[in-house]
Order: sequence, then structure tokens, then C-alpha cells
Amino acid sequence: MARILVIDDNADLLDMMRLILAQRGGHQVVLSADPADGLSKALADPPDLAIIDVMMPGITGYDIVRRLREQPQTAEMPILILTARGQPIDRETALQVGADEHMAKPVMPADLLAKVDELLARRRGAPEEGAGRVLTLLSLRGGVGVSTLVANLAVVLAGGEPDVVALFDMNPASGQLALHLRVKAERTWASLRDTSPDPALLEQITTRHASGIHIVAAPFSPLYADRLTGPTVEAVLAFLRGRFEAVLVDAPPLLNEAAMAALNASDLIFLVLSPEVGAVQAALAALHALREVRERLFLVLNQVQERPPLPAAAVERALKRSPDALLPFEPAHRTALARGIPLALEQPQSPYVQALHKMAVTAIERLAASGG
Ligand SMILES: Nc1ncnc2c1ncn2[C@@H]1O[C@H](COP(=O)(O)OP(=O)(O)OP(=O)(O)O)[C@@H](O)[C@H]1O
Ligand SMILES: [Mg+2]
Repeated sequence: MARILVIDDNADLLDMMRLILAQRGGHQVVLSADPADGLSKALADPPDLAIIDVMMPGITGYDIVRRLREQPQTAEMPILILTARGQPIDRETALQVGADEHMAKPVMPADLLAKVDELLARRRGAPEEGAGRVLTLLSLRGGVGVSTLVANLAVVLAGGEPDVVALFDMNPASGQLALHLRVKAERTWASLRDTSPDPALLEQITTRHASGIHIVAAPFSPLYADRLTGPTVEAVLAFLRGRFEAVLVDAPPLLNEAAMAALNASDLIFLVLSPEVGAVQAALAALHALREVRERLFLVLNQVQERPPLPAAAVERALKRSPDALLPFEPAHRTALARGIPLALEQPQSPYVQALHKMAVTAIERLAASGG
């Protein structure tokens, strides 16, 4: 929810804006029918975003934007010009005087809300504001517990706070991550056909779980794998990191163009393995292939079996590196998955979840040390 100031001399339009922004969008709305009053409101208590009309008695919307840009407290405030003047020259003028966006009336509520979200995200996503962190979890060997880890780490990182963590399931095979959370996703990334999807569509493919964790789910049908290209992955991640503090990526077990796009956008890459010879070989291959981003790699040894085929010491010898985190065997995962409730939500005291807390602290320290 954001605080949005609307300045427009048309009372009907203000009523409609209240309906769209407050009722539908859930934002807090401040309305002003008088341009001079609107300007002083904006300067006295800058909103998160201002929507301003152009043609008004006394002072135009363009003048208001210029005045706002002169003052430090509103110099960077997102401003949307919403006007009946819809010619290209009008748009150009709006941007030139310092508005961030221009939309022509009449506007569709969904388009307006999407634009508002985009502007707010752009603001949040601005580097000086601190964009969300992208954490990618990866294994080149299946079944080592990556998706389980993603779902539980999300719960741990959110710490009970809603709308701060998002998940992106890049695995094209049958929407497994949504299953971990029993999320019924109406839309998935299979809806992406365009390499630069617009924010409204990205919004639609993001499903909210009851816990307040959001997920861009993978399609149930494995036939859409090709829809995830490098550019679509970049677009999804840019969108999510603009809105959430942490974005966890469940990467596929390969290093194709889409996976590399995710890794390139990642602040930290969790390479997951289990103490088993196949998983060790896959980890060695990944460590070699990703040697150039070595300093962003975080090694996780997850004990998916009760009796590990290899002792931890043998794994370390083979990798010539000790894991950054150790996750213990946890039989309760099986029932957690069957019920679609991650262990971290129901059994926060379990040793696995406690180990995740410890891992999260180490990872956050690592991010801070790398200047992130
Ligand atoms: N620490 C653990 N202890 C016990 N079982 C675990 C542990 N971590 C994961 N598992 C179990 O291992 C199985 C595989 O887990 P998961 O689906 O998360 O792996 P994955 O690496 O995502 O696999 P996939 O390659 O299919 O995507 C699941 O049954 C899960 O409950
Ligand atoms: Mg998985």
C-alpha cells in the first residue's frame, strides 16, 4: 500500500480515482481539486506518488511538476501525468518537465493500477533505495532438496512478515514448488510470450500464498519450457526485485541461457548437494562451470537420506572446499510436502529449520561483506 496524491480539478474524476486506487488498489489516497492546494500538500507531506492533471485553472500540471522537482523533498517523487491530452507531443512535454510517466484519459483501472505499481517499484528498485536481493538455489543433480529448501528458506527469511519474499520456480516440470506451498496458480510463467512482458502481466503471474509469500509458479505442463528465455527471466527478476526484499529462485538442474540469466542477476548462488557420489560429481561440475562467480557461491550440504552414503569429510575432500551450511536429515519433510505446508511454518523448532536460520544468518553476513 502506498500513499497517493491526486490533483485534478474534476470532482468526478477524483471520485473515480478514489474508487480505483483505494478500493481496488488498496492504496491510501489524498485528493485535491485545487492545484495550488495540491502543490502545497505535496510539498508539506510528500506522498509516495502523485497523479496530476494538466489543464487546471490558475496553475497547470506542468507547473506543479516543475515546482515539485525544484524542491529536494519531492525531487525524486514518482509523478504520473494523467491528462485528456494524449498526443505524442503532450507525452513529451510531460516527461520533459520532469514527470516519470504520462497516461491519457480515459484510462482503464487495471492499466492505471499497473502503472502505479510500476512507478512505485521503479522507485523502490532505484539503487539508492536498495533493491531486493536475488538468491538462486541450484543443483545440477535432481532430488537433493532444492525446492524444499526454497520453500522453507522463504518462510525463514520472511519471518512472519507478509509481502517481503517472492519465489520464482524456473523448473519446467510440473509446478513442484507451488505443490510445496499448495498454491493454486491461475497463471504461471507459461503466459510469458514476449521477451519484455508488461508489468500488468508480470503482476498476474505472481500468486500470493496465505503466508504472504508470493510465487511465480512453473506451469503444470512441461511443454512450455521454451517460454523461459534469458530476457524473460531478466524481466521476471527485475519485476520481483523491485517489489520484494528477497527473491528466491528455484533454478532448473542445468546451465542454459535462462538459468545463466538468473545466476547473473543473483546476489548469492546456493549450490546444493547431498552426501552422495552423483550429487558430488554434479557439484564439482557446477563449481567448475561457475568458477567466475566463485565469490557469490554458497555451498549447502543437505542430508536427504537418513544414512548418508558418503561421510561429510569425504565430500569436503572431493570438493576441496567445506560447505557453508549443513542441513540435517528431516523425516518430517515428507508429510510436510504431502500436506503442502513447509516445515518452517509448522515446526519452527525442528533441527532442519534451526539449521536454516543459521544458514540465513551466514548468507546475510556474506551479502553484507560483499557490499550488498
Ligand atoms: N533435509 C532433508 N531431510 C529429509 N528429506 C529431505 C530433506 N531435504 C529434502 N528432502 C526430501 O527429498 C525429496 C526431494 O526434495 P526436493 O523436491 O526439494 O528436491 P529437488 O532438488 O527440488 O528435486 P527436483 O530435482 O525434483 O526438483 C523430497 O521428498 C523432500 O521431502
Ligand atoms: Mg525441485
